[in-house]
Amino acid sequence: MNRLVIISNRVSAPKGSESGAQGGLAVALSSALRQYSGVWFGWSGERTDTFTGDIHFQRDHGVTTATMDLEDQDIDEYYNGYANRTLWPLFHYRVDLAEYEREFAGGYQRVNERFAQTVTPLIEPGDVVWIQDYHLFPLGDELRRRGCENRIGFFLHIPWPPRRLLSILPEAQELVRRLFAYDVIGFHTEEWLESFLDFVRLEMGATITGDVVTLGTRSVRVLACPIGIDTPEFVDLARGVTARLAYRRMRDSADGRDMIVGVDRLDYSKGLEERFLGYERFLVEHPEERKEVFLLQIAPPSRGAVGSYQRIRNTLESLSGRINGAYADVDWVPIRYVNQGYGRDTLAGIYRAAKIGLVTPLRDGMNLVAKEYVAAQDPEDPGVLILSRFAGAAAQLTEAILVNPYSAEEVSDAIRMALRMDKPERIRRWRACMASIEQQDINWWRQQFLDALMLPLSVAAPAA
Ligand code: G6P
Repeated sequence: MNRLVIISNRVSAPKGSESGAQGGLAVALSSALRQYSGVWFGWSGERTDTFTGDIHFQRDHGVTTATMDLEDQDIDEYYNGYANRTLWPLFHYRVDLAEYEREFAGGYQRVNERFAQTVTPLIEPGDVVWIQDYHLFPLGDELRRRGCENRIGFFLHIPWPPRRLLSILPEAQELVRRLFAYDVIGFHTEEWLESFLDFVRLEMGATITGDVVTLGTRSVRVLACPIGIDTPEFVDLARGVTARLAYRRMRDSADGRDMIVGVDRLDYSKGLEERFLGYERFLVEHPEERKEVFLLQIAPPSRGAVGSYQRIRNTLESLSGRINGAYADVDWVPIRYVNQGYGRDTLAGIYRAAKIGLVTPLRDGMNLVAKEYVAAQDPEDPGVLILSRFAGAAAQLTEAILVNPYSAEEVSDAIRMALRMDKPERIRRWRACMASIEQQDINWWRQQFLDALMLPLSVAAPAA
């Protein structure tokens, strides 16, 4: 294939570099990029007084990255503003948290233009361009306006909201109309794809023929294609030296108790408050279990400039404090609440040491922690995954214990069930989950999307 140009808001340091605590998406993309020559372009994460469009190139572990700095106003209006105060909450069904300001929409447009202007000279004829996530919805259109005739794909890593919710966004129609500049749009699940199709059909009058959607003179192919992890790599990681040390450290400190683990960015969409309340319910309903178990919640702070993130952080601090104060004993604390991030190799060991992986987002485009938890388990004696039915991953990991994360009762029952599950049942469920993440791994995801992107629009996509 030709060169691949990946564009996303954030360009994370590739695997192996010092910043070990990468998000799942970043890992997935650098692994995709390593297979091709090409470049990964995005914001450096740095501020500059005046935007220059200067590009910083870096080559590390087989991946070339190209980044630019943004101005304070860009970061406030585009990243902290439209992306994370408007789109993120709305697309995660949190209408109550979404803020609508013309400055945000203006900054979002300006930064998308800046992305287009800066990356255009890097795109060569024949390159395949792959744009990621909600920060950059209009980027394909901005590239087309600058004469880009390359194949351009877009992948959304968060849910697509139901059409009645999306209608609340003042710029919804315009934003969606501009998506028709792409050749292919990908979603993680059928559910998000269906919501998109509902919106374009019922709100905008688009027509749908097979997997091709037409609005006016523009057609775009759509597909649902769940992102995976590099499963063999994660399995190896869980057996490596760092993971084994972390495993030992956790087992020693658990002192014979069962560990429940949660690992999430500190984000209101992750359902941490509800998770703590569900766990508290379990402690109340099963006092005999109290000192037999503990919850380790790792939650590195995220997007701290945004008010809703400051609030959820405060809420979790007081809630974990209250629960610990109410139930702790001199030799036992029910919740270990940790705001620090850890490298993936350390996390792999922690997952392996945990009897239960508790992954209960209120809404999540996919959730790769759930998949990593499964991959890290000991095949002879695996732990149990409790997974929100509202995470994209639930469509694949159907043999996890699926719960409604809003229901403290369901979460409590699931914890009880997982703790009591016998080994043959744990192995059976784990094998089913493992088979899914082995089959639909990161390479499969990337290939599915790029195959669709290379297909001429007149040809119907082969059935998956
Ligand atoms: C989610 C988004 C990604 C984003 C990541 C971390 O997974 O889908 O696009 O990079 O969160 O968030 P941050 O705001 O720190 O980049």
